[in-house]
Amino acid sequence: MAERKKLYEGKAKILYATEDPNVLVSYFKDDATAFNAQKRGTIVNKGKINNAVSTHLFQLLEAEGIPTHWLQSPNEREMWVKPVTIVPLEVVVRNLAAGSLCRQTGLGLGTALTPPLVEFYYKKDELGDPLLTRDRIRAMAIASDEIVHQLDTLARRINQILIDFFNGCSITLVDFKLEFGTLTDGTLVLADEISPDTCRLWNQNETDIARRVMDKDRFRQDLGDVESGYQQVLDRILAHTN
Ligand code: C5P
Repeated sequence: MAERKKLYEGKAKILYATEDPNVLVSYFKDDATAFNAQKRGTIVNKGKINNAVSTHLFQLLEAEGIPTHWLQSPNEREMWVKPVTIVPLEVVVRNLAAGSLCRQTGLGLGTALTPPLVEFYYKKDELGDPLLTRDRIRAMAIASDEIVHQLDTLARRINQILIDFFNGCSITLVDFKLEFGTLTDGTLVLADEISPDTCRLWNQNETDIARRVMDKDRFRQDLGDVESGYQQVLDRILAHTN
């Protein structure tokens, strides 16, 4: 195959063009960053695990009628995806309070959020990905009210599908981040990845607060055994799927 043109290198993935304009390659790296890249490290095999987890979840969501950018995952590190124009919003869904929500509001860790919160953050590293309001999104002309409404609806549907799926794996879906893009015909599709890097996942078989964490908080908070937390998420997904 001809050498691929690198289109973009992010913190966790590299995006390459292919000879086919309808196919891009997303290459999953082992690099880990947190706190807007102030903390950096490597999690052995993270790229492979995140590709496998994302692949399963995208296939699950597609089967439930949620359009995604996923095309195929031909090997452990690569996901082939449809080219999209990314909506510069990070859509965070929260079922239980954790992370920045606790820091910013004083809500206790694990407080149930009913109905779940859907929040929009501006994808802009230089500004530290600030939390937006709908009025701010309108003032900044980032997305129309209609797109914001569609994102909210899609995020809530995805949340319900993922809550049910992870419950079947004895995992609690605490919160997660989604990114969306538009295809050339304007269709909104789920993009990026859904993995232990982008979700908080708690092991329902553990009551100990530190031991129950199966996601990137193990890296953020130096809890140790980061790779085994990620691997356990994948193992449970595979066991539940097969
Ligand atoms: O940091 P915060 O508590 O706002 O994160 C909420 C959720 O969104 C967490 O699951 C976190 O992993 C995810 N997130 C992400 N990428 C970001 C910000 C948050 O995957 N840039």
